[in-house]
Amino acid sequence: MSSKAFIFFILLLNLFLFVTSEKTIFDKTNLKHLKLKNRIFRAAVGDTSFHNGKISEEGFQLYDQLSKNEIGTLFTGYTAISDYNAFPDDGMFRLDKDEYIPEFKKLVNLVHKNGANIIVQLVHIGMNTYTNADIVYAPSEVPLKDRDKMTKGMTKEDILKIENDFANAALRAKKAGFDGVEIHGAHFYLVSEFLSPLINKRNDKYGGNDENRARFLVEIIEKVREKVGKDYIVGLKINSEDGEENGITEEGLITACQLAEKAGIDYIQISGMRWISERIKSPIYAEISAKLAEKVNIPAMLTGGVRNLDEINEILNKSKIQYIGMARPLISEYDLIKKWKEGKTKKSRCVSCNTCLNYGYCIFHKKQSDMKKTKAADFQSIKLGEYKVTYLPDGELLTLPDLSYHGSTADDWNKLG
Ligand SMILES: Cc1cc2nc3c(=O)[nH]c(=O)nc-3n(C[C@H](O)[C@H](O)[C@H](O)COP(=O)(O)O)c2cc1C
Repeated sequence: MSSKAFIFFILLLNLFLFVTSEKTIFDKTNLKHLKLKNRIFRAAVGDTSFHNGKISEEGFQLYDQLSKNEIGTLFTGYTAISDYNAFPDDGMFRLDKDEYIPEFKKLVNLVHKNGANIIVQLVHIGMNTYTNADIVYAPSEVPLKDRDKMTKGMTKEDILKIENDFANAALRAKKAGFDGVEIHGAHFYLVSEFLSPLINKRNDKYGGNDENRARFLVEIIEKVREKVGKDYIVGLKINSEDGEENGITEEGLITACQLAEKAGIDYIQISGMRWISERIKSPIYAEISAKLAEKVNIPAMLTGGVRNLDEINEILNKSKIQYIGMARPLISEYDLIKKWKEGKTKKSRCVSCNTCLNYGYCIFHKKQSDMKKTKAADFQSIKLGEYKVTYLPDGELLTLPDLSYHGSTADDWNKLG
């Protein structure tokens, strides 16, 4: 081969490598030993299908549908590690007792049979209880909103107990066959309350600065690792913002994540609070996730506002972000990823209206005929520019973006009727 031909060959090879090294959501990757058939995770969606130690038929059906439709890995909804009675969702998953292991084995087997992975999300809800729980645990003693009650600023014994509860629940998850556990350190549940300067007012070694605020999380990870061993997947979901001024800062986030990595976490899913109050239309945590991905040596997962295939492929290629979490689009269309894989790449119809979060159903699943059966006054809708204001049966007001505003058309809506 002449030297010119050789140089040309090398250039071609480089071009080929450059083109083929583009990331796409359909890449097969490994998270430690765990094989992932694509980069998509169904982000946690709290379930209320667990009663008297059994998952309901609808609960199994949901996971069956999701896992049959090309989502690589499912997170379960948040799952109680202890203090179940203080939790707001009657029927949420729980792993606070060994007796629940067999039921979760069935769930895991179902998902595995369908070719997907499943990771259980572990939570202690902290001060986020809506019931009259006797003790409401929190990092510090603070008044509970709308209630004539204070939280219990946790003692060292309380801290150790809850850390051990996380570790024991993780071991149960491993025994049930889950592919891993995710520590819920977001959304103002207990771990994120410790991470947030808004609530953590402690002046011992669990508060006062970023490193101390991360200590509870770090100790949980260490205790979980001791129980499940070094090969098991242990992940973290964390707030990148607390939705209010003086909440977790960028430095606080990076410090917590670096310490979590050192303690043995395998990936970090970045979330926050803004998706709850804002009608987000695009991945709101893309920038901070990309920044964080540069600061740690474990995969970063971007969740929140992902609706559009081209947009996420671009984000994957512009950053070190490895994985993508999606929740509401997959509530609306459980087969969205399958459609994308088949080349039907229309963006998700989800308009982030949060009807699923607040009322437990997707507006696109409500047939128009159901709406018509309801008294006219109950479902009066008024169009206000790009918003539609609707009166719900219980008298609450719901402000939705007009469907056409997010690229969905009135046709999508009519087809359902
Ligand atoms: C109905 C509903 C339930 C949720 N339950 C959980 C949960 O149990 N744990 C959790 O970390 N996040 C939960 N989330 C938040 C999602 O995992 C995700 O972070 C959020 O919806 C933003 O992503 P999206 O724009 O793809 O929906 C829930 C969201 C919804 C809409």
